[in-house]
This record gives sequence, structure tokens and C-alpha cells, in this order.
Amino acid sequence: MPHTAIAWVRNARRIAVLTGAGISAESGVPTFRDAQTGYWAQFRPEDMATEAGFRAHPQRVWDWYQHRRDLLAGVSPNAGHLALADFQRRHPDRITLITQNVDGLHQRAGSTGVLCLHGDIFQDRWLDTPRNCCFLDHAVAGHPPYCDRCGNLVRPGVVWFGEPLPLAALEAAQPAARQCDVMLVIGTAGAVYPAAGLAQLARTAGARVVVVNTAPSALDETAHAVLRGAAGTLLPQLLAA
Ligand code: APR
Repeated sequence: MPHTAIAWVRNARRIAVLTGAGISAESGVPTFRDAQTGYWAQFRPEDMATEAGFRAHPQRVWDWYQHRRDLLAGVSPNAGHLALADFQRRHPDRITLITQNVDGLHQRAGSTGVLCLHGDIFQDRWLDTPRNCCFLDHAVAGHPPYCDRCGNLVRPGVVWFGEPLPLAALEAAQPAARQCDVMLVIGTAGAVYPAAGLAQLARTAGARVVVVNTAPSALDETAHAVLRGAAGTLLPQLLAA
């Protein structure tokens, strides 16, 4: 663990953290670009995690998210999630946690105020603008559930490719990136914007950018330091200060 990165974290008044699927990998959650397994191996996530994919095959997409929800029910936060939550407990005003993950593991580890840029897999919402007959609590069970008055379908409350990010989360994440002294970029390929753009935003504003990843990522060039290794191993060392 380079001492410079530890010193940057120790001396930082404000730290912004951007996490991706890699921080949940050691909990047993397949990363977004891991090969799909079993029945799901025949489908590409990029084709399913879209509104068009859901409208074309509502049952398949709904069942895929149910499958992922079931997987998540059986996993736990790992040392990486726990190190971030512990750091926030010790330094409540110094850290802003921004995640691309929808798995809720940061919150289950005890992190609070998590900015969820891509939504929450455990939330449901309506596919079409809800009418005054649409109540999620009264949706008829199905694959997917639906409104028995107008047929509106229930969809997972995640951001699909091509959809806008939740404005509140993005409008909180951007100033956090601009105002931080250090940005930790953890377990993300850095392939999806605007989330990945937060690293450059931080660097341009003068922050030290530290990437933690087991493999090269698109954000390595933006980093002042690249820590090659697993989040579950490196974060406890980096945040122990
Ligand atoms: N520790 C650190 N990094 C890891 C680990 C680990 N234990 N395991 C894997 N990684 C890294 C991989 O090297 C890869 O760079 O995590 C990254 C995971 O990349 P993706 O699967 O592309 O996930 P992510 O970058 O979060 O995707 C961003 O794109 O797919 C959409 O909406 C989806 O939120 C997702 C977004």
C-alpha cells in the first residue's frame, strides 16, 4: 500500500468515493460485465437493462431482476463496504459515498447518505406515468406485476441504459466531486457516463484521484495513483487512518 495514498487520505478534509460493481464482487455479486451464468447466459445485460428490452420481453427482464434480487438476499457486505462505513462513522463529515451499484450493500454495511446514481434494485416503480388508478401496493402479482385497472406494468427502480440519472443524486454527486481533496474510484471499469465523468471532474478541480481496481480501467489515466488489488484488501488499509 503506497504511503502517499494513505497520507492523501489522512490529510484530506473532504473525500468523495465513487464505487462500481467491483466493490461487491468479493461479496459474491457478479459484476455487470461478468459472464452471465446458467439460463441467463444466453442474454446480454445490455439488451435487458433497457426500457426497449423490458417492453419487448417484460417477463424475461422482470424474472432476471427477480433472479438478481434473490442472489442479493443471500450475500453480505464485504470488508470493502465495511471499511467505508467504518470510516464514515469515525469521520462523519469527511466522506461522500457515490455508487453506481444498485445492490444496497453499502447501506447494509452501515453507510448513510449514499448517492445511488443508478437506482435501487429492490425498489419498484411504474413503467408508464402512473395514473390515479396505479398503486404499487395494489399491483396484481405477476411477471411483472401490473395495474389491474389500466394495465400499467411494474418495473425495477434502476436506471436503464439511455435513461436519465436521478437528478437529486447527480446534483449532490457533482459538487462532492468538485469540492473533494481526494476522490477514491473503487471497482469500476469507468465505462459508463456521467458516473465515470466524476473522476475527471474531481481531478480538474484539484483533487487527488486514487483508483482501486484488480485490473486496468478506463479511469487509470485520470488517477494520480492506481492501487492494483481487491477493494476488500486495500480499502481497510487505505482507510485505517
Ligand atoms: N476489487 C476491485 N475492483 C474489482 C474487483 C475487486 N475485488 N473485482 C472486479 N473489479 C473491477 C473490474 O476490474 C472492473 O473494472 O470492477 C470493475 C467492474 O466493472 P463493471 O462490471 O463494468 O461494473 P461498473 O464499472 O460498476 O459498471 C458501471 O455500467 O453496466 C452498467 O449500470 C451498470 O452500474 C453499472 C455501470
